[in-house]
Amino acid sequence: MRLTLSVIKADVGSVGGHTKPSTRMIAAVEGEVAKAICNGLLIDGFICHTGDDIAIIMTHTRGEGSSEVHQLAWKAFLAATSVAKTSGLYGAGQDLLADAPSGNIRGAGPGVAELSFDHSLSGARPAESFMVFAADKCGPGAYNLPLYLAFADPMYCAGLMLPPMIKGFRFHVIDMDNTAGDSLLELDAPADSYHIAALLRDNERFGIDRIISRTHGEAVVAVSAQRLHAIAGKYTGKDDPVAIVRNQGIFPAPEEIISPFAKAHFVGGDARGSHVMPLMPVPLNTSVTGMYCLPIVSCVGFSIDKEGRFAESYTDFFDNPAWDEVRRRAQRKAIEMRSQGWSGAAMLPYSELEYGGFRDTVSGLLKRFRLRDERKPEAAE
Ligand code: 13P
Ligand code: 13P
Ligand code: MG
Ligand code: MG
Ligand code: MG
Ligand code: MG
Repeated sequence: MRLTLSVIKADVGSVGGHTKPSTRMIAAVEGEVAKAICNGLLIDGFICHTGDDIAIIMTHTRGEGSSEVHQLAWKAFLAATSVAKTSGLYGAGQDLLADAPSGNIRGAGPGVAELSFDHSLSGARPAESFMVFAADKCGPGAYNLPLYLAFADPMYCAGLMLPPMIKGFRFHVIDMDNTAGDSLLELDAPADSYHIAALLRDNERFGIDRIISRTHGEAVVAVSAQRLHAIAGKYTGKDDPVAIVRNQGIFPAPEEIISPFAKAHFVGGDARGSHVMPLMPVPLNTSVTGMYCLPIVSCVGFSIDKEGRFAESYTDFFDNPAWDEVRRRAQRKAIEMRSQGWSGAAMLPYSELEYGGFRDTVSGLLKRFRLRDERKPEAAE
């Protein structure tokens, strides 16, 4: 069977400020997904949230970009938006940027990550397991560094030295600044790994769209790399990317994939999407309530049975005391960075901030600048 994993997520409202969706919003999404499983559109589905973003994780055989699956997700987010509106929640419908998109909803606001593979639980994949990363309060390139380290650096993934992976992985890098459409470049690690790094270092412009095994030709990673402000033309919240990563066997093991997150690396995001702050790994269904508005990431793991259904339980990868140490490190890094307030590297460059209200504040001031008298040509004569 050709199985597709689709993860579609959106921020359509939250309780008490931008913290988390309400229980009734989640129930509304679950209701729509349950109906879609019942009527055979989906094989299985799982709903969770990271901060105020709701993720729908689905298996089906309709392929990537299926209008029925995308429309189902849109309908589920509309149902949650309507609950959010009735309850007076913050940011109701925030990420639904198009009126009524027909078919595929990529580019309409919700984040979409999808990948397909032949699923038979035999050959190179006698078992099928994967994980889903979901981030909140951060920019689209938040996974650039950790995925690069997991799929291109044996210091993090020693498994890269083994026969099934030693030929490396092909990175599809997306230029998120190209508003004409998806603009992609394929580069192979390890041969092109410095070129890959040269692009991925710019988290706001370049992202990983997908990663393919060079030995097996199988898609292993899919990321929802997009910039909301490129769609909306103004700041409408942070991009908060999701990623699907298949693991084990011909791919890295879970620990090889999550270990780079121990860095709590700095990303663009946090309050008003304007700061440079560490990415804190958190358990599933965590609210954003810390002293800042720290970028957070969750990671849930699933196995898939022969029929394409999720096994009866899931793994919450960051819900482990080992990650408490990393969370403390992230908090320490956050306090250090925030002690610098608005100055220089502590906030994102103006090119990123110009999509928010900072542009209006600064452009108002720019009009008031005047040349010093002695520099005026008439004064020099
Ligand atoms: P197990 O013995 O638990 O299967 O672990 C082996 C392993 O390879 C971990 O990556
Ligand atoms: P969201 O994208 O989660 O709404 O967060 C953006 C923000 O501006 C936080 O202050
Ligand atoms: Mg929000
Ligand atoms: Mg969010
Ligand atoms: Mg957002
Ligand atoms: Mg084992």
